[in-house]
Amino acid sequence: MGSILLTGGAGYIGSHTAVELLRRAYHIIILDNFSNSMRSVIDRVCRTAALSETDAKSRVSLVEADLLDKAALAEAFASSPGVDVVIHFAGLKAVGESVEKPWAYYHNNLVGTLNLLGAMNAAGVSRLVFSSSATVYRADNPVPYYEGYALGSTNPYGWTKFMIEQIIRDICAANEGLSAVLLRYFNPIGAHPDGLIGEDPKGIPNNLLPYVAKVAAGELDEIRIFGDDYDTPDGTGVRDYIHVMDLAEGHASAMEYLQDRKGCCAFNLGTGRGTSVRELIRAFETACGKRLPSKVVGRRAGDLPVVYANVDLAAKVLGFTASRGIEEMCDDAWRWQQYRAAMPGNTEDQEDNSTPS
Ligand code: NAD
Ligand code: UD1
Repeated sequence: MGSILLTGGAGYIGSHTAVELLRRAYHIIILDNFSNSMRSVIDRVCRTAALSETDAKSRVSLVEADLLDKAALAEAFASSPGVDVVIHFAGLKAVGESVEKPWAYYHNNLVGTLNLLGAMNAAGVSRLVFSSSATVYRADNPVPYYEGYALGSTNPYGWTKFMIEQIIRDICAANEGLSAVLLRYFNPIGAHPDGLIGEDPKGIPNNLLPYVAKVAAGELDEIRIFGDDYDTPDGTGVRDYIHVMDLAEGHASAMEYLQDRKGCCAFNLGTGRGTSVRELIRAFETACGKRLPSKVVGRRAGDLPVVYANVDLAAKVLGFTASRGIEEMCDDAWRWQQYRAAMPGNTEDQEDNSTPS
């Protein structure tokens, strides 16, 4: 097989998938504009994958480019012959920010994807794995979520995923030389167990796990629990958290499945199990060895009480089942959090990457 191009490969999920692909002996090309990631991640990916200097040079390439720059994309494919599959992670991903800056989200995510599809077509690259999200399921579906459920969204970020899925499905259906897998992630958390790579949100995190990790590290004062009056066993919201290394393995399985398949298929990537906010906090307290201050505040607008996946399709068709539990997710996230805080050049690459409105 040729090489695998990872758009957004320097980001949280892309960097973990890169390590898994290197473990499986593939050659990878990371294309990123570093708007939400650090340049030093490339070196940390190679170290995590235990590559020798020679191997790192021959099996990992970096293209610093923006998907909005068509010429740079064409050049990226021209200078990297033999790309067999693209895994498309690149995109803006914060729900709240997307409500404040919808144009930036539609522009970056939709135009970026259209440019990528055009460049793939011109270069004769016919396989695509796309980072979608559980957020594409309409809120009125009962749990667990099945791939065949009605789709919709409630915010611009979610609509970009919904629209990109539709664009990819239409192009595959028109038989324009594209085959694709749409991966609908539930709640990815955790980090590689070696602790050199992980999620690195800029500013105050919106998602629960990175917020809890920063409270544990003393960078934030206390956890805010968004409501304890839901109809759930302990009253707090329930989600399907999946270890990012399981997610990485799911990408490798999806990519291998695509090798001899045509068309377009969507798969949930989750564990099929729900964990409440309080359960997650308790698991993190065990991981970091201390009690974490928390207080219950009002519900967050737009939140659902319970979200988890039906994972049968990925198990049956891709042969993929997530194996890591909540304790492992919290242990690994905590290890990364400590490394990140002590990282030499902690402020490296922290140039102003703010999203235009
Ligand atoms: P991330 O922000 O860590 O990684 C995305 C990467 O894409 C970053 O390195 C960023 O610099 C790059 N990027 C953004 N726009 C770009 C552009 N125009 N050109 C080139 N590079 C660009 O995010 P992540 O958590 O790794 O998420 C990866 C993908 O998975 C995203 O598409 C996201 O929407 C999707 N997703 C993430 C989650 C989650 O909880 N993390 C859940 C569901 C879906
Ligand atoms: C959020 C996004 C979703 C996106 C996903 C990516 C919203 C409404 N939804 O989902 O579109 O795909 O992130 O991972 O933003 N919580 C707290 N305190 C906090 C943060 C969260 O109690 O400080 C609770 C939430 O109410 C929820 C659970 O923790 O019950 C998980 O929240 P979060 O990590 O933000 O993920 P989602 O809401 O599932």
